[in-house]
Amino acid sequence: MSQSQFVSKCTTDALQLAVTTLLHGNLVAFPTETVYGLGADALNKQAVARIYETKGRPADHPLIVHLHSMQVMGQWVEDVPEYAIALGRDFWPGPMTLIFKRSTLAQDFITGGQDTVGIRVPDHVVALALLEAFHTLGGGGIAAPSANRFGHVSPTTAQAVSDELSEYLRPEDQILDGGACTVGVESTIIDCTGPAPRILRPGGITIEMIKETTGLIPLQLVDSKEEIRVSGSLEKHYAPAAKVILDAAPDAGQGFIALKELVTPEGVIRLAAPINTDEFARDLYAALRKADEKGLAEVVVEQPQGDGIAIAIRDRLERASKGR
Ligand code: TXA
Ligand code: MG
Repeated sequence: MSQSQFVSKCTTDALQLAVTTLLHGNLVAFPTETVYGLGADALNKQAVARIYETKGRPADHPLIVHLHSMQVMGQWVEDVPEYAIALGRDFWPGPMTLIFKRSTLAQDFITGGQDTVGIRVPDHVVALALLEAFHTLGGGGIAAPSANRFGHVSPTTAQAVSDELSEYLRPEDQILDGGACTVGVESTIIDCTGPAPRILRPGGITIEMIKETTGLIPLQLVDSKEEIRVSGSLEKHYAPAAKVILDAAPDAGQGFIALKELVTPEGVIRLAAPINTDEFARDLYAALRKADEKGLAEVVVEQPQGDGIAIAIRDRLERASKGR
């Protein structure tokens, strides 16, 4: 678990090297406000294939293309409805991914053969600097899933990326360290191919915010086989090795994650005590990782109530509780 050879602080030199790394078809893990991404040149088939290898991810699961600005989105997509422009204006850069009909630039190796593509402008200085420099040097966009092995907990620090992926990376690859992610759960994914926005994965951009911006009532993902290729919507996902038990009274020897107001019973190992739901989202994945580092068999999580980002937290925990 030591700091690996891959991790570098985000100096100007490291950023420059990262752009070259990407242009050469290698991988760069980078921070975003949600979770760390494992990036590759979205126009380079071999480079994108390495993302799948490194994550151990099935090849038909589509990737999000990250851009430095909504202005360049037109190259990647077709048929952008007005409500999507409103969403982009209000929430980009930010924790939101929009799904559109793809242009010919978004090839099968990005979209998993689907005729849509996911686009995100992340809100993180390092990510934006990397994306902008990549664009300036002729790069088209950076494809990036969360920088974890398939089905595991997403990483929210460079150290967590290194712990997850170092053994699968090559010497040419790089991990940019931009500190801990501030949102902590993955972006809200919104399908913008229909007459109204449809939420495929809840996240930091909430139903209320989407309603407010678009004046439309967003549809919610109904679980069905047809949706299975939204890998984040697989029934089992986001899971640590420890068994996740929801909303139970913790016993001695078990890990415990809950809002600070809940006391830790005797002998229970407290892994996080966030003061509100935002902090809950920010700390959750690191706390689940801590359970594994401590070799705990079980971790009990008292889920936060209410809407807003609490919905995203409960969505991830529900899947995490189904195991790997
Ligand atoms: O916050 C985030 O979204 C992070 C950071 C790195 O940007 N990325 C992320 O990527 O969570 P990933 O690949 O771990 O999860 C993206 C989800 C997957 O479930 C994928 O199936 C879905 O987005 N997705 C991507 N493109 C899609 C498309 N065209 N249609 C439907 N779902 C799509
Ligand atoms: Mg993921």
